[in-house]
Amino acid sequence: MTPAQDTFDITLTVNGVSVSRRVEARQHLVEFLREELELTGSHLGCEHGACGACTVRVNGEIVRGCLMLAVQADGRRVDTIEGLSDSGELSELQEAFHRRNALQCGFCTPGMLIAAQDLIANHPGASRERIREHLSGNYCRCTGYQAIVDAIEDVLAARWMKT
Ligand code: FES
Ligand code: FES
Repeated sequence: MTPAQDTFDITLTVNGVSVSRRVEARQHLVEFLREELELTGSHLGCEHGACGACTVRVNGEIVRGCLMLAVQADGRRVDTIEGLSDSGELSELQEAFHRRNALQCGFCTPGMLIAAQDLIANHPGASRERIREHLSGNYCRCTGYQAIVDAIEDVLAARWMKT
């Protein structure tokens, strides 16, 4: 029997930069981002898909980075909180989170911001209930969620006023 391959060469685009590495077959995407690329803004909480702390974007879709293997990201585009912050894409949300005190320890915040931006992009008319539903997979142990939902509502309302 042929032994299973335990390392793979991958090339992906992370925050607009092409990256090539040899990775272990069992290494998940967020561990790869944190350990190999020192992009530590994506956090690891539960590591089984429940808390949303590891949320990143792959080919434009939000995913749980702890549920995707690094090797599965081969050939794909990955955007992390670092890249999305640097590009200014999250600036309205970041300002609203700050203004509304929507973060305390900040552990959930990168995942929360990426999930919220996904909602704003895809559901610009979202109700408060829709916001809550969209964030239901992102856990926050500190804020009680109220201020987070307020902040997202602010951004949606400001955009609506501009249209
Ligand atoms: S660390 Fe990935 S969902 Fe919790
Ligand atoms: S601000 Fe602490 S977990 Fe959300």
